Amino acid sequence: MRIFYFDPDDKRRQVQTVYLENILNDVEVEVASQLSGPLGACEKIDHNAPFDLILVVAPPSIPVYELFDRSVQKDARAAFILMSENPLNAFAGMEGFKSQNPKNDFIQLPITPADFRETMLKSLSPSYGQRVIPAFQKVRLIHFLRFSKAHCNVYVKLSNHKYVKIINAGSTYDHSDIEKYREKKVSHFYIRNDDFEHFQVTIHKTPFLTFQNEKMSEADLQKCLRNTHAILKEMILEIGITREIADLAEKSVDEIVNLAYQQQDLNVLLKNMQQRLDYIYDHSFLTSIVCCEILKHMHWNTEDKVKKLVMAAMLHDLKLNDPELCKIEISHDPRLQTYSPQEKKAFLGHPMETSLLLTGIDFISPEVASIVLQHHETPEGNGFPNGLHHSKLSLLSCIFIVAHTFVQNNLEIDFDPDRQDKIFEDLAKRFSLGSFKSVLDAFSNLHPNSTKPA
Ligand SMILES: [Fe+2]
Ligand SMILES: [Fe+2]
Repeated sequence: MRIFYFDPDDKRRQVQTVYLENILNDVEVEVASQLSGPLGACEKIDHNAPFDLILVVAPPSIPVYELFDRSVQKDARAAFILMSENPLNAFAGMEGFKSQNPKNDFIQLPITPADFRETMLKSLSPSYGQRVIPAFQKVRLIHFLRFSKAHCNVYVKLSNHKYVKIINAGSTYDHSDIEKYREKKVSHFYIRNDDFEHFQVTIHKTPFLTFQNEKMSEADLQKCLRNTHAILKEMILEIGITREIADLAEKSVDEIVNLAYQQQDLNVLLKNMQQRLDYIYDHSFLTSIVCCEILKHMHWNTEDKVKKLVMAAMLHDLKLNDPELCKIEISHDPRLQTYSPQEKKAFLGHPMETSLLLTGIDFISPEVASIVLQHHETPEGNGFPNGLHHSKLSLLSCIFIVAHTFVQNNLEIDFDPDRQDKIFEDLAKRFSLGSFKSVLDAFSNLHPNSTKPA
């Protein structure tokens, strides 16, 4: 893709060249500036291989018609776009240039980056349709149901090049509006690339969305939690977990949370986690569902086992409040080096601290405290706090660790159903010893084509 770009305004030319290079893949922009002047630009057109697009941004004092004639002589198929702050009729000899090629166009400046992009694509389509760099990034619609205010513009996609704004930056939105899109089977909204980068959005981090008010009422919190559960369940059903299991886990979560609300320390920690509604809450809730799924495949899904594992899942990271730390599994993970010695110490101590807190509570069994204590142990024996050999871990802990790893790996890929082969392949490589093997053998029935641990 070759573009010839003449513009005597250095600053604008530099900015728009960057835009051009970000609209299409493999774009080569040949620029001509004031230094070479229109004649120099004509020579460049003459002596270079033909261009796909000639873009001229200039005032009427520049003899644009010379550039136009030269480009037609060189290759009449090339699109010619003239941009100016002055109207077209101010350019001598350019009156009929648009009719000579349907791709030719005149654009009155100023122009927004978005419109600039649209204009360029229109002139180049359809031949370059496949090579367009998306100007928008998609964000799952369900994230919007968890919050109420957007800090950047939000769009729906109508076609490959057409996006319509539905939420203005800085405004609050109604969940009923979002629901309407969901009913129409819209699964993603879009935000612009620059916002995506600015807010450092990832699959499970949407800092451009927040709540309308700093402090949520209890009723609002409960509503957000219900939405969050519905959203997370919907996501996990896509990979084959049955609604029956997801509902069972949710019911158990609700019972445990209500019990935990009665205990002062747990109440504070739990409410903190729920109000942040970030990765820590999501992975806890999803781990409880996966634990129930594994229990089902192991034919071990008694009420007692379900309750213990769901309790461990909902409480195991209660003492953490940094979602990024929560993604770290082992004590020698290099990401830990970015934290202060105190933060590191608190992180490495959280399985023990949380386990001790749970040990003193009457409705929590010692087995739950033990799962929480062991949740960072690994099949390789390099976990923390105790670096236990796998034979020293309880079966419930092994189930928990497999479920937890499965959820964390899946959150990295947005629970993509097409990538479950790889997920199970990776699990099989790691969980091939002792109780871990029997847990994974059973769980692999969720994905029958997967490789079982050797
Ligand atoms: Fe943890
Ligand atoms: Fe965790």
